[in-house]
Amino acid sequence: MIIDTLQRPLRDLRVSVTDRCNMRCRYCMPKEVFGPGFRFLPRRELLSFEEITRIVGAFARVGVRKVRLTGGEPLLRAELPRLVGMLAAVPGIEDLALTTNGSLLRALAKPLREAGLRRITVSLDTLDRDRFRAITDSAVSLTEVLAGIDAAVEAGFAPIKLNTVVRRGMNDDEIELLADFARRRGHILRFIEYMDVGNSNGWQASDVVPAEEIVRRIMARWPIEPLAPNYPGEVANRFRYRDGAGEFGVIASVTAPFCRGCSRARLSAVGELYTCLFAAKGHDLRSIVRCDVDEATIDSALEETIERIWRRRSDRYSELRARQARKPHVVEMSYIGG
Ligand code: GTP
Ligand code: 5AD
Ligand code: SF4
Ligand code: SF4
Repeated sequence: MIIDTLQRPLRDLRVSVTDRCNMRCRYCMPKEVFGPGFRFLPRRELLSFEEITRIVGAFARVGVRKVRLTGGEPLLRAELPRLVGMLAAVPGIEDLALTTNGSLLRALAKPLREAGLRRITVSLDTLDRDRFRAITDSAVSLTEVLAGIDAAVEAGFAPIKLNTVVRRGMNDDEIELLADFARRRGHILRFIEYMDVGNSNGWQASDVVPAEEIVRRIMARWPIEPLAPNYPGEVANRFRYRDGAGEFGVIASVTAPFCRGCSRARLSAVGELYTCLFAAKGHDLRSIVRCDVDEATIDSALEETIERIWRRRSDRYSELRARQARKPHVVEMSYIGG
């Protein structure tokens, strides 16, 4: 096990498989920035499945136990189930999960399950058709996403997690409605405080609905009690409905940062290692995996590089946010997968 300068072990890896998305959520990939002229990564720049698997293998040997596939929208990557099958076979990886916008799940839930994916989280910010169009600003309909969630349940992924980014004036009037929807269907809803990720979402502190306010509103409607974390450093604070209708969570990344327990590394689609969601720069691993030497040499070079980078790590952006006068330029959320 390797630990960073703040005594945090490296346990989780979030792997972005593409920087593209078929939605244009106003708060993540606004069309003014991510319009037709935007230059996404060319195909040849992306890590191949073999390269991703080799890098994940190295992470597993230095302590990573949990891998989450992200994007952009990860289901846009061709043949994703094949990658899932390859990662499921990596020794040491105990948990393999996926965060998706749900739009392509109807066709892909079953093959992903069969390939060895264990858990699915779907982003869902609203249950109103028109509002869904306004928020996601694309041709994808709410109906497709809801059908995708049902397909995931049918494929055996229940309980599904739902991620709701709450933004003041955007969807904060739907908190109870979304909670009720998740309760009835047995999904685990997590309300996420709107974060100042990336450089293009025009974030303002007044957009944030504090987790405490969300919990108070749920509590006013249903009796709840707090639950202990599933694992050390879990990002969501969990609550149980006392009537037995499952649980929900809040992710208070702005009002109650959880950097202290942050054991997450992120790998971009082109093979850069980011040690924080708010990092300005990644460390290149692709040039190592593409080196023209034997596989054992590549493997040990990967392990050494990851170890060296993690041991030097001191990131805790969310804890420092309040003290920073001006935000530094950081990586985009859609590039690094949240
Ligand atoms: P599990 O607990 O394994 O189910 O997954 P998760 O909650 O880590 O994953 P998910 O992709 O659903 O993340 C939920 C939200 O938390 C997303 O908005 C992420 O961007 C945010 N998040 C996850 N990890 C971090 C982190 O290290 N720092 C910050 N600031 N936010 C994070
Ligand atoms: N703040 C918080 N969460 C965000 N997500 C995207 N942008 C933001 C933001 N600015 C969420 C997505 C997805 C997860 C990976 O990150 O909705 O559920
Ligand atoms: Fe929306 Fe997720 Fe796509 Fe960003 S990556 S535009 S949050 S669906
Ligand atoms: Fe981890 Fe950076 Fe998020 Fe803090 S802000 S929890 S260090 S990824």
